[in-house]
Amino acid sequence: MIVEQSEGLSSVLDREEDEQILSLRPRSLPDYVGQERVVETLKIAIEAALMRNEPLEHLLFNGPPGLGKTTLAHIIANEMGTRLITSSGPALEKGGDLMGLLTNMEKGDVFFIDEIHRIPKVVEEFLYPAMEDFAVDFIFDKGVHARTHRYRLERFTLIGATTRSGLLSSPLRERFGIVRDLDFYHDDDLVRIVKRSAAILSIPIEHAGAYEIARRSRGTPRVANRLLRRVRDFAQVRAEGTIARDVAVEALNLEGVDEFGLTETDRRLLKTIMINYKGGPVGIEALAATLQLEQDVLLEVLEPYLLKTGFVIRTSQGRKATERAFEHLGVPHHTNKKVNKTLFDV
Ligand SMILES: Nc1ncnc2c1ncn2[C@@H]1O[C@H](COP(=O)(O)OP(=O)(O)O)[C@@H](O)[C@H]1O
Ligand SMILES: [Mg+2]
Repeated sequence: MIVEQSEGLSSVLDREEDEQILSLRPRSLPDYVGQERVVETLKIAIEAALMRNEPLEHLLFNGPPGLGKTTLAHIIANEMGTRLITSSGPALEKGGDLMGLLTNMEKGDVFFIDEIHRIPKVVEEFLYPAMEDFAVDFIFDKGVHARTHRYRLERFTLIGATTRSGLLSSPLRERFGIVRDLDFYHDDDLVRIVKRSAAILSIPIEHAGAYEIARRSRGTPRVANRLLRRVRDFAQVRAEGTIARDVAVEALNLEGVDEFGLTETDRRLLKTIMINYKGGPVGIEALAATLQLEQDVLLEVLEPYLLKTGFVIRTSQGRKATERAFEHLGVPHHTNKKVNKTLFDV
């Protein structure tokens, strides 16, 4: 059973909560592709908790969007046979909201807080005793008459998801028993995900077609599923339905997704560093302003994959485009700035 407290930022951003997409979400650990070490940790923790008939420890998942954090929270509640109550950092504006959720928790419930790094500080402080002692402190009256009343909670499991674990305060982070980073997926895992999704959606696909989608998916299952749907449309209209390699290539080129999975936005970002800022280093504020993008989007959505694939590096002075980026986009690289300068000076 799933109880939605309110729509968080990420579910608004996801725009994928329609039934077809939900059908692609793995429901059990064996269906969850890749991330073997995380899965192994969870298997052991879940089995041990079930044997002791105890709730699971609090867990924190960190990693870029679309790598399967929310999916894991659903799977864990499923495997533990408990309810899942979902909320998100930005939705928990007032301490009272959190109190309401916590006091209604039943034994073993899984409480999922998405984007937990965005939880307001005052609200976060209510979480400490809840996580540690399974209690919340109600404060009555104000000033000299203030009294607190400790209210006992049922033992629950908090699962936090974050794209920016660096923004989490250490008191909060320390209260999680298990902390795991999710990494970008390997191509072969993404091939499995694409094939699995294609089977669920009854889309005929060839291995080479699945591979082409996988390697352009930025190491991200959500992207893989999205590209699969785009290619399916193209295959239906232009190629009698089956996703072969050339169909995938043509459809994805049309989408503006290149062979490294870079999109129009990625290329605009790289070109801005390469051309406007002569390869960098450029500070994140300046870059965000030039691109007219929010810094958070740059930091949480775009940059992680560009860093991972070595198109961008981060230095103490800011972001730099690498040789690989110049080559890939065919932008001439004037490393010797002095030469240019004298040319202009003359
Ligand atoms: N390990 C996985 N195996 C198969 N599909 C996955 C996996 N991880 C994620 N997905 C797919 O990607 C989508 C996005 O995952 P989600 O859990 O919402 O990511 P996050 O919460 O990290 O942003 C899911 O709906 C699911 O279809
Ligand atoms: Mg999520």
